[in-house]
Formats: sequence, structure tokens, C-alpha cells
Amino acid sequence: MITKTVAELLSQDVTLQDVTVKGWVRTFRANRFIALNDGSTLNNIQCVVDFENFEESELKRVTTGAAIQVNGDLVESQGKGQSIEIQVKELAILGDSDPETYPIQPKKHSFEFLRENAHLRTRTNTFSAVMRLRSSLSFAIHKYFTENGFYNMHTPIVTGSDAEGAGEMFRVSTLDPKNPPLNDKGDVNYSEDFFGKETNLTVSGQLEAETYAMSLGKVYTFGPTFRAENSNTSRHLAEFWMIEPEVAFMDLTGNMDLAEDFLKSVLNYVLEHNKEDLTFLEKRLLDEEKTKPQAERSEMSLIEKMRFVVDNNFKRVSYTEAIDILRNSKPNKKKKFKYIINEWGADLQSEHERFLVEKHFKCPVILFDYPANIKAFYMRLNEDGKTVRAMDILFPGIGEMVGGSQREERLDVLVEKMKALDISEEELWWYLDLRKYGTAVHSGFGLGFERLVMFATGMNNIRDVIPYPRTPQNAEF
Ligand code: 4AD
Ligand code: MG
Repeated sequence: MITKTVAELLSQDVTLQDVTVKGWVRTFRANRFIALNDGSTLNNIQCVVDFENFEESELKRVTTGAAIQVNGDLVESQGKGQSIEIQVKELAILGDSDPETYPIQPKKHSFEFLRENAHLRTRTNTFSAVMRLRSSLSFAIHKYFTENGFYNMHTPIVTGSDAEGAGEMFRVSTLDPKNPPLNDKGDVNYSEDFFGKETNLTVSGQLEAETYAMSLGKVYTFGPTFRAENSNTSRHLAEFWMIEPEVAFMDLTGNMDLAEDFLKSVLNYVLEHNKEDLTFLEKRLLDEEKTKPQAERSEMSLIEKMRFVVDNNFKRVSYTEAIDILRNSKPNKKKKFKYIINEWGADLQSEHERFLVEKHFKCPVILFDYPANIKAFYMRLNEDGKTVRAMDILFPGIGEMVGGSQREERLDVLVEKMKALDISEEELWWYLDLRKYGTAVHSGFGLGFERLVMFATGMNNIRDVIPYPRTPQNAEF
């Protein structure tokens, strides 16, 4: 007797005697056909029982959601819809599932309902396909960097610095919230806290990654990051995973080349290795699009969109050029944008990014050389004195996928910038040390992992591409 997964059995081209398979019942039809799924593949294996040979009480327990084990012979299927099936000889109920209360019925459920049942939603085709793709993308990312000479680095999750200078962080503290120690001024005295200072969950591993790039050369982090911004959108999470490569002696052009090659490579990996799930998700998206008005439907299918990104160059456009395009665009002139672009220096909103990517260029766009005052302190100042060597990569349907930059490697320029922004030199003494001892040109970027998973699955809400989403007012499970 050999135990096999459903995926193994379905890829078998010979028939087998006495195989065992375990999984969860999707449906049980005509007291005879069990559709069994074990998560190893999108497909179910059909298990055929001759009900005359089994106790009626036993067969009654074969309900949707029940965990069962079957043993039997793998044979060519008599029926349509599958090429092989299991002729069941033994059947064991491992775990019952009350059909009256089991939430995942064999019918279409809304994504809202499935979010409320996120602990069971991977028992559906859509969510099992999404999560298999997520896993595959994660593997492809590690594979890409490993094969290209990068070292994986684990940056701290609890941090005393605010890398993005955004000040939207989650505090980490063991002080008694009812009765915290106070200092002379009446403020909370964090020197009595666990770490002896104010600490938060990290918003980015970049600053620490920079220290390792300046010794190991090429490194990357792939870890959870946390942002307490109260933006309840379909593209923001309070806890998300970020991939951050950082490379010594690489300038912004090298950074763009790396990001583009990397994105193409990981998307190509899943196009080659996850065909079954992608084809299913493509069809799902197509069905969903049919419910929308024609004008809002996408011109390309899911796989076409991914192929398009893999096969075409990203368009590289400076912020200044982008502002000119936006200023002269129809929605700007007709005041269709919520935020009208009047002058150079304006921060781009997602409506502007989407216009550039989806309407104007119709391909991924790398915007670079942004105004210094709308970007983080660590970005390298250009010779013009007003722009920095920043880049954002914008994707159709997603908006900002990647944010990165060449870093300011000149000590005097960096210190001046920190002073102007009131960023403590004392706190970032180690970051400044990098500019004192063997400083060099270096660059890196951050990719929001869930945004990549959204693009590669065609899911429209970021809450549906992470197992247990953390968003304002929601930390269930
Ligand atoms: O543009 P961001 O803020 O860049 C950084 O954090 C840099 N330190 C990265 C670097 O240069 N090493 O974030 C990077 C990416 C964004 O482009 C976006 O894809 C994603 O992270 N991201 C989010 N994803 C989900 N939910 C949120 N709240 C996100 N905020 C940013
Ligand atoms: Mg950004």
C-alpha cells in the first residue's frame, strides 16, 4: 500500500493497485462519486464507491469538508471529465464535517464572506490557487537572488529608528499602559521600557541592509514590515512582506536594470511552473470582468498581461517628463483628476500613476529623479540640487509596485539633509559611520510582495493574497 498525493496520482500515466490518498471531500454525488482534494493541486481526484459494499452509516459521513482516507486501485475512468479515478476498496472517515454548519458549501461564495472565514477559505479553488502561487513566487524570489550572488539577510523587526521618516509606526512596549513611568516633563519615560528606549515594528529593513551591502556586496531581505497608516484601500496592508535588495557600487541605472530583470524573472518562473493555477485564475478573472461595463474591462487576460511584462521593456521616464505629460493630459485639462497637476513638485497620487501606466504608456513605467522634498532623506541628491535619484516602478492595475533609490553616500550632504529634516544623528550614528568608513555608491529597492501576488493572480483586493490580512480595525485570526 503506497500513500500518494492527489497531484502525484493525477500525473501518473500507469494504473496502480492499492494506493492510499487522504484529503477533504469537495462533493459526494449520487452516493457514488467523491471529489477529493488535498491541496497538492487545483484538481480533485474522483473516488468511486460501490455503495453496496459499504455501510450506509459510513457513507452518510462522507460530507463536504470531511477529512477521509481512501484506499483502492487507480484505474482509467469510465466517465467524462477525468482520465483516471480511484476504485475505492476501503474508506475511513478521519474527521467529520457537519454539513449543516460547515461554512464552505459547494457553491459560489463572496470574497467578503470568505475573508470572514479565512481559516477555511483555502479549501476553495480560488484561494488554494492564490496561495500556491504566493508560495511559488516566494521561492522564485529566493532562487533569483541566490543564483545572482546575493546573500539573504534577516533584518530586525523591532527597531529604534524610522527608516522612511514617515512616523507611522506600531509601538513595541512592555510598560503598563494604565500607569506608565513619567519623566520630569510628564512624558512617558521610555528609558524604563524593555529596550531602554522607544521602539517600534520596522517599516523597512533598508537601513540595516545597507550596512551589509557595504561589506557583503549584494544582499536582500524578505521579511514582514509594518505601517500604521490609516489607509483602508485595496492596496494597503498594515502588515505586509517586503523584498529589499541592496547592492554596493551600483548606481540608479543599475538599480533599474536589476529591478526590471528581477520582476521579469520571477513572473516568468510562475508562468512556467504554475500553469494549472494560472489558467484557473485567468478564467476566474475573465468571469469577474464580464460583470463590469465594457470600458472598465481589461484588454488583456491575466496570462497575457504577465507575458506582456516579461517580454517588453519597461518605459523609463523622469518625474519632470511625467509632470509634463500629466499637465497636458485630458483628465487634467478637463479637471477629471481629484488632484489637478499645476506645477512641478506636486506629489503624484495613484490616479496620476494609473493614468501614466494604464492610459498613456500602457506598460510598466519606471519613474525616476523625483523632487527631493517628496522623498525620503537617504536618497542621493542630483547635481541640480532639487531632485533625488529615486525610482518608483508602476504596474498596470496595481500602481506602485517598487520604490527604490541610489543612496546618499556623501557624509556632508547626508548630515545636512538630516539636520534639515530634524532626523537624529545620534540615533543613526551607525548609518553615518558607513559614510565615514569606505563609503561608496550603492542602491536598492523595495518590492511589496502582496502587490506582486496581486498582479500574478489577478486578485483585486490585497486582503485576498495574504493568509490573514491586518488592516485598520481588523486583526482576526
Ligand atoms: O516605497 P516604499 O515605502 O519604500 C521603502 O520602504 C524603501 N525603504 C525600499 C527600499 O528602497 N529598500 O515601500 C516599498 C514597496 C512599495 O513600492 C509597495 O509595493 C509596498 O512596498 N508597500 C506596501 N504594500 C502593501 N501595503 C502597504 N501599506 C505598503 N506600503 C508600501
Ligand atoms: Mg514608495
